[in-house]
Amino acid sequence: MGKNIGELIAARKPGHALEQAFYNDPDVFQTDLEEIFYKEWLFAIPACDLEKAGSFVAQSIGAYKIIIVRGQDNVIRAFHNACRHRGSMICKVAKGNSPKLVCPYHQWTYELDGSLMWAKDMGPEFDPSQHGLKTVHCRELAGLVYVCLADEAPDFEEFAETARPYLEPHDLGNAKVAFESTIVENGNWKLVWENNRECYHCGGNHPSLCRTFSDNPRITGANPDGTFPEELQSHFDRFEAAGLASNFILDANKGQFRVARMPLLDGAVSYTLDRKAAVTKRLGTIQHDDAGTLVKFHYPSTWNHFLPDHSIVFRVNPISPTETEVTTKWLVHKDAVEGVDYDLKRLTEVWEHTNDEDREVVEFNQMGINTPAYEPGPYSELQESGVIQFVEWYLNTLKRNMGPQAVAAE
Ligand code: FES
Ligand SMILES: [Fe+2]
Repeated sequence: MGKNIGELIAARKPGHALEQAFYNDPDVFQTDLEEIFYKEWLFAIPACDLEKAGSFVAQSIGAYKIIIVRGQDNVIRAFHNACRHRGSMICKVAKGNSPKLVCPYHQWTYELDGSLMWAKDMGPEFDPSQHGLKTVHCRELAGLVYVCLADEAPDFEEFAETARPYLEPHDLGNAKVAFESTIVENGNWKLVWENNRECYHCGGNHPSLCRTFSDNPRITGANPDGTFPEELQSHFDRFEAAGLASNFILDANKGQFRVARMPLLDGAVSYTLDRKAAVTKRLGTIQHDDAGTLVKFHYPSTWNHFLPDHSIVFRVNPISPTETEVTTKWLVHKDAVEGVDYDLKRLTEVWEHTNDEDREVVEFNQMGINTPAYEPGPYSELQESGVIQFVEWYLNTLKRNMGPQAVAAE
C-alpha cells in the first residue's frame, strides 16, 4: 500500500512539485473531491447562461449532480438534481427552459424555487412541504454564479466584496455567451492549475497568446519583496486614478483568490492576433483601450480574463485522477451581433489555440509523472511563484478541511 495523505503531505519537499500520488492516485483524487470540491465555493456559470425565468443548467461535480435555475422572481438558485421521490435525475439535458421542474420518472413536479407542487396519489398523510428539492448554496456575484456543496458553506463575502468593484465595470449582467468550448485534458486538475499559474511555458508554447500577453515575470508579477515592477505599478496607479479597480490583491487570509488589472503587450486592447478589439459593441463601460486584462482566479474552479471589449470565463472540473474538463465561455454584449459587431473566429482563436496548447503540455506533464522514474523537481522562484502559491493553497486547504487526518501517523 502507498502512503496515506498525511504521510504524503509530510513527505513533501517545499519548493518542489508534488509526489506522484498527488497527480494520479485514486484515493488522493477522492480526497481532493471530498475535502476541496465538495467543501469550497465553486464557479458554476455566468448568470447570462440563464436568460429568463425557467432557464436551467445541469452540471456534475464529482459524484454530485446539480441544477442551477432562474426563478419567476429572477433569483438564481441551485438544487441537487435528484428527485425526492425515488431519486431520479430530474434534468436530463445540460441546459434548457421549463416553467416547472418535472421528474421524468413519475412526474413529481417542482416549482422553480424547489418546492414540491404536485405528486400523484401519495395519500392524505403525505406532506409536500417536506419533499422540496435539496438546496445547494448559490450566490450571484456581478454576473457570475458560484455554488457550494457543503452543508455549511465557508465565507463568500470577503471574496465577493473584494472582486465586486473589479467586476462591475465589465457589466456581465448585460452579457451573452457568444461561444463556449469544453475540452477534457488528460491530466490531474492540479496540473491544469499549475500550468495556468505560470508563464514559464508561454514563450515555447503559446505563439498566439504571446502577441498580446507578456511572458516576462519581471513585468507581470510581484517582486520578491512584495512590491511591483515600476511598469506594472504605474499601470495600476493610472487606472486606479481613472476610477477603475486595478491594484493586485491576493487573498491575504487563505490565498484562494486574486484580482489584478494587468497590462497587455504594447497597449493591445484584447486577445486577438492583430491586438485590436475583437468586438465593436463593447461589453462594459471601460473606455480606455489600454486598460489591459482584469485577471481573476478563485481556487479550485476558475480563472478569468475581463477585457475592455469582452470577457472570458473558465471552469475547471475534475473528472478522474488524470482527466480534467475545462469549459471556456466567451461573453460579449447581449446586443452585439455576430458578423456585424464581431467575427467569431477572431474573437475565439487566441484562447482556442491557447487552451489546446495548454492541454498538450498538461498531457505530456501527466505522462511523464506517471512513469516510475518521476521525481518531484524544483520550481523556479522567479518564474513559478504562482505555482508555488497554488500548491501551498492546496496543501493548506487539505490540512484545514481534513483536520487531524491530514497529519501523518507517528
Ligand atoms: S423518482 Fe421522481 S417522480 Fe418518482
Ligand atoms: Fe498556458
